[in-house]
Amino acid sequence: MSRRASSESAAVGSTQLSLMDSGWKYVPGVTPETNGLHVAYLGRAIVQQDGNLGQPNPAINIYGTHLRDANSFTLSATMKDIKGTASLRLYGDVPVVQDEFRVEPKSLELTLTSKSVTVSLWNGYKNQSLYKQLPTLTQTTALQLQPSNVITFQYQGKRTSMNVNGQQVATLATNGLFASDVWFGMSAVNTGDSWVLSDLSAPATPGVSVVNMQDMSAYVKTNHGLQALARHKRPGFLVGAAMTLGPAATDTQYAALAFGGNFGQLTTENALKWQFVEPQPNVFDFTEADALVALAKKNGLVVHGHTLVFGEANPKWVQDLPIATVADKEHIKQVMVNHITQTVGHFKGKIASWDVVNEPLADFDAPAAADGLRQHVWYKAMGASYIATAFTAAHQADPGAKLYLNDFGLEENGDRWVALLRLVTQLKSQGVPIDGVGFEAHVYAIGDEIDPAILRSHIQTLAGLGLAVRISEMDVYDDNGTAAQATQYADVFNACLSEPNCVSWSTWGITDKYDMWQDDNNQMQYGQDLLWDAQAHPTPAYTKIQQSLL
Ligand code: XIL
Repeated sequence: MSRRASSESAAVGSTQLSLMDSGWKYVPGVTPETNGLHVAYLGRAIVQQDGNLGQPNPAINIYGTHLRDANSFTLSATMKDIKGTASLRLYGDVPVVQDEFRVEPKSLELTLTSKSVTVSLWNGYKNQSLYKQLPTLTQTTALQLQPSNVITFQYQGKRTSMNVNGQQVATLATNGLFASDVWFGMSAVNTGDSWVLSDLSAPATPGVSVVNMQDMSAYVKTNHGLQALARHKRPGFLVGAAMTLGPAATDTQYAALAFGGNFGQLTTENALKWQFVEPQPNVFDFTEADALVALAKKNGLVVHGHTLVFGEANPKWVQDLPIATVADKEHIKQVMVNHITQTVGHFKGKIASWDVVNEPLADFDAPAAADGLRQHVWYKAMGASYIATAFTAAHQADPGAKLYLNDFGLEENGDRWVALLRLVTQLKSQGVPIDGVGFEAHVYAIGDEIDPAILRSHIQTLAGLGLAVRISEMDVYDDNGTAAQATQYADVFNACLSEPNCVSWSTWGITDKYDMWQDDNNQMQYGQDLLWDAQAHPTPAYTKIQQSLL
């Protein structure tokens, strides 16, 4: 792995390596203050698509400070002012977070209450239900905690021992738990809990260093990347991809593809979905998306925000909002408008465009309303008017942002296209501030194939209404072979490039390494859908698009 960090401070002599000095501003639920890091309950959890509550999603410092080359180390932490249950967790890698599950990497957690210490060990992903990835080992010791507690971890590869206030609480077999990097996670576990991390340091261990990922330099751009080439064909045209913070900040292969000249736009894949940014009523945490925005800015990419109003990926409290009375419905409207106002307001001037309303058309699983719209909480509370309300609120929060409605299945003729056209015609005639439509362009199965001639005619129809188009989430399954996959990709790319109102083209992901999904048995599966395979080699689709630009 190539090392890109510029400010590594190596252990010298017997001095302590302090980890607290900088690099803690992008940790969900954590506020750096003068006496330490204040950790507050945030309650981020990942819901299943059917609405059931899924896994907890505790915070981890990804775009910030961590230990490197830590093949053996001693770590000392001071945990104080613990109200409720406090968790400090050391990770050997960062978790892969999708919007329905998170893949738990190898990690070691210490959980403190006033009278007990629990040690939990995750020894990598076991082939178990994806959203119930339980620790391989859990061990609780009764212990009276102090107002301030000194914790030490001694990792020597084969074994790790943990002490609290000088008393050993566990010694575990941990062969190969940490291979090089050690990342830090901290959370307050239950509603109302909080605590303070007032020290985190590593007594000098030869070779171990502290790295702040925010000090990484920008990636060097090649002039034969897709964005670089497209610029010559059509100035202003954006080539983009949905990206996630974990790999963008920590996987240098992925980051080189993301930031090295192929892309001029980044879509926040899951980081801005409701369950991640407003996990509790009116409790917002934008740190993960802030980190992505900072990475994009450093590397010269513009950001497309996904998504403000959607029937999925909503936290449990949103799903449980009462909806019986007129007052309930008015409250739901206020909840929606507040979410939009806070979110768009936070990123004003930093996020250039938004999917304001995502997938408003009825899907195949649920009954459609008479107007063809999906009957989720927003529709049930406000009818179709939620769409105009959402766009108006977004426009007020950032008049400079371009506002999109995004949906799938718009590339072909049929009911969805008819319903979409009716909807946007109405929105335009009402003067709703909508700038364009996102065509997801997912080609997931036989029958999804996109006919570029029909796609172009749809883009032209929207031009006639004064609307822009973005191809927003393209990915193509490989069931018909990689040659057909390549042709499909290149055809859609070039259809967009040749229509002046089609302003950008994006894929949903970068490499197949992170292209995971959950099958009907809750098992993890991988797709082969993207422009780079799981080893980060370009697929024929990449080469074909690139050739078409030369
Ligand atoms: C996807 C996410 O990227 C995955 O993590 C998740 O497992 C499934 O949903 N259309 C959208 C996106 O608008 O939000 C969806 O995202 C893909 C389909």
